[in-house]
Amino acid sequence: MFEKLSLIPPDPILKIISEYNEDVRSNKIDLGVGVYRDSFGETPIMSVVKSAESHILSTQKSKAYIGLAGDTIYNKNIQKLILGDIKIAEDRIFTIQTAGGTTSLRVASELLKETSKNINIWVSNPTWSNHIPVLESTNINFREYPYYDMETNTLLFDRMIACLETVPKGDAVLLHACCHNPTGMDPTLEQWKKIIQVMKSRELLPFIDNAYQGLANGLDEDASALRLMASEFNELIISSSCSKNFGLYRDRVGALTVITKNEDSNKKTKSNVLKIVRTMGSVPPDHGAACVGYILSDKSLTQKWKSELDDVKVRLKNMRKELAGSLKNKTNSHDFSHIVRANGMFSFLGITSEQVQALKSQYGIYMEESGRINVAGITMENVSYLTDSITKVLESHQ
Ligand code: LMR
Repeated sequence: MFEKLSLIPPDPILKIISEYNEDVRSNKIDLGVGVYRDSFGETPIMSVVKSAESHILSTQKSKAYIGLAGDTIYNKNIQKLILGDIKIAEDRIFTIQTAGGTTSLRVASELLKETSKNINIWVSNPTWSNHIPVLESTNINFREYPYYDMETNTLLFDRMIACLETVPKGDAVLLHACCHNPTGMDPTLEQWKKIIQVMKSRELLPFIDNAYQGLANGLDEDASALRLMASEFNELIISSSCSKNFGLYRDRVGALTVITKNEDSNKKTKSNVLKIVRTMGSVPPDHGAACVGYILSDKSLTQKWKSELDDVKVRLKNMRKELAGSLKNKTNSHDFSHIVRANGMFSFLGITSEQVQALKSQYGIYMEESGRINVAGITMENVSYLTDSITKVLESHQ
């Protein structure tokens, strides 16, 4: 019976991992999947995570199920991390632990489909390459709003607003809290205020993907748009992830936070969410979330974590400057200043898919076909080879 299946192309981001691993060139560079790398090109386990792991290893007495909502200590702390001092009545909000941010997005999409068969989810054009597949797998309608101009490498803010002004009441808008993936280009706070004003007037639901808190300008700064929305809207969905800011990628640590109008709707919403979780994979994995819950419950560990995360943020900013400066000097003609204006791990290089292919085949430099790069793949050792190669490819493949 399996012969009836059609062949599905591999995921455009994850396939880069194996292509890169198979490449035997010693000077190859991986600018593909969004995984942090330090100045040595390594993805180390944060030392604060190592401490939490040894604590858990020595004190954990059981592996029995905790429950569908996961670890309550983790959930409470994640809510605080996301919302800071924003006060939401306890009976209007809940947070559950999920297996990474992706599961949270999927559970939220299933929930939205359950609330209305006709709802559309509006996603930015472009968006993370797994957003649309997640919505497609949920079988929910989705539409796109303009977001980024590939020619000028700037936000299409006026067009985004004009589009939101036409979105049918009751639809949901998927927004990136910070470090927009794939462009790295975020609205300013003033622009967020305008987005909120239009969305409120159209009675639209914010569905926020918060996967990179702390990687742009700081934990509080990166949550400012999200917190503004939490204080302005009666209803809100937040999918968050600890993959990047705790470096817990493979341990699958995420959360789903939902704010509802009142206690009654909160209870009903949570019951629907737990039913979805039960059939999608049941209880979430414990280990990573237990580490995060432990770190965030302890002041001194939290301080250590913040300082490790600050190093990540600073390194990303420095590598952006190195790359843009070096490309400007070497190409003499192209403007790469948008790379410095962007936030977090990603930027578009602004090159064609042929040029992306040439960088891969001729120089062993790997990135998404769209020209999205993970700036964490750049080091002081490889930046010169990288920018030499980009310059040559820009000249030879116009
Ligand atoms: C990325 O965009 O590279 C990351 O979010 C990792 C992933 O799962 O795609």
